[in-house]
Amino acid sequence: MMSDYDWLQSECTELEQAGLLRHLRVVMSAPTGTINLGGRDVVMLGSNNYLGLSTHPKVIDAAVEATKVYGTGASGSRLISGNNTIYETLENNLAKTKGTEAALVFSSGYAANTSIIPVLAGEDDLILSDTLNHASIIDGCRLSRATKKVYRHCDVEHLMTLLSESTGFRRRLIVTDSVFSMDGDIAPLHDIYEVATNYNAMFLVDDAHGFGVLGKGGSGTVAHCGLEGKDIIQMGTLSKAIGGLGGYVAGSRALIELLINRARGFIFTTGLPPATLAAANAALNVMRSSSKLRKRLLENADTVKISLAKMGYTLLPSQTQIIPVVIGEPQHATDIAEALLIEGVFAPAIRPPAVPSGTSRLRVTLMATHTDSDIEHALCGFENVISSI
Ligand SMILES: Cc1ncc(COP(=O)(O)O)c(C=O)c1O
Repeated sequence: MMSDYDWLQSECTELEQAGLLRHLRVVMSAPTGTINLGGRDVVMLGSNNYLGLSTHPKVIDAAVEATKVYGTGASGSRLISGNNTIYETLENNLAKTKGTEAALVFSSGYAANTSIIPVLAGEDDLILSDTLNHASIIDGCRLSRATKKVYRHCDVEHLMTLLSESTGFRRRLIVTDSVFSMDGDIAPLHDIYEVATNYNAMFLVDDAHGFGVLGKGGSGTVAHCGLEGKDIIQMGTLSKAIGGLGGYVAGSRALIELLINRARGFIFTTGLPPATLAAANAALNVMRSSSKLRKRLLENADTVKISLAKMGYTLLPSQTQIIPVVIGEPQHATDIAEALLIEGVFAPAIRPPAVPSGTSRLRVTLMATHTDSDIEHALCGFENVISSI
């Protein structure tokens, strides 16, 4: 008998036939260089725990201590009852790290982008967005109801053309990833900032993958590009190099005050658990106090990039810890990821809609905590796979 829900299975079957069906994999260990994936030890080349801070003893101690003192949950939204004192410490620490007047923490980076953008732009406004921007930016733009124009990837000339063709809007907002999440390249923030200034546009930078990795003390890509102190709204996440969970925005006091009053993903949700806030604060302190982890991370990434290119893999020109190994068709990317798993290497296949059609890839990411032996093992797996295809 036909059911009103038959379409659910039909859609899954269609996805499977197109090589696009995704499955969850069970991880049975902490996100270190080698993990236990479904009962097997494999080298982890798919983690955003770039500095290894999620298992740093100081970070774990801070989380445990906060839980003992404050319990496991926030118990309410921040505006009503869940604004734990650690929020204040963490937000001051973030503002200091970013060199801004103030900062505000959200439940996740996704929640931050989908909340900030609709506050900055509305129906009468124009948003200019890089074609490879993260899905959370795309969704934030949709929620804003602003007119959106998409410029070619990192193409500042195209951005200028679109701006010069667009008159009659109340406000303009340019938004870009700093380090592109699936490509690892760095947006030309300096040139975009100049364009923003010339066209009286606001400039929002999503530093999810640059924070902790680039700039002095890991303060991020805006500093890396020599733009600290400029009028740029910096969004980021605590879920990648910081090793925990949460998003943030750093900017002027007025921006933060308006967000507290208007950002729906801030207002209508429960605060983060105290352990998460304390862990993030401790991780920020570790991140700022030593450049060793950052240096090791980027050295690991360089070693892997050079070796994979020598083996004959097609890499996109990443300057960071994210290494896109382009395969092409989705099923082929999945097959290669599976072959690598047999070799004991986890390098996730990324397929449309996360990347443009025809550019399915392995998204290889390094961690500062990968040992020489993890990396040797991983490279040996890649060598065996390329010689068998
Ligand atoms: C560029 C970018 N922005 C935002 C996010 C969302 O961050 P979170 O995972 O903290 O929700 C991600 C996460 O994948 C990202 O890559």
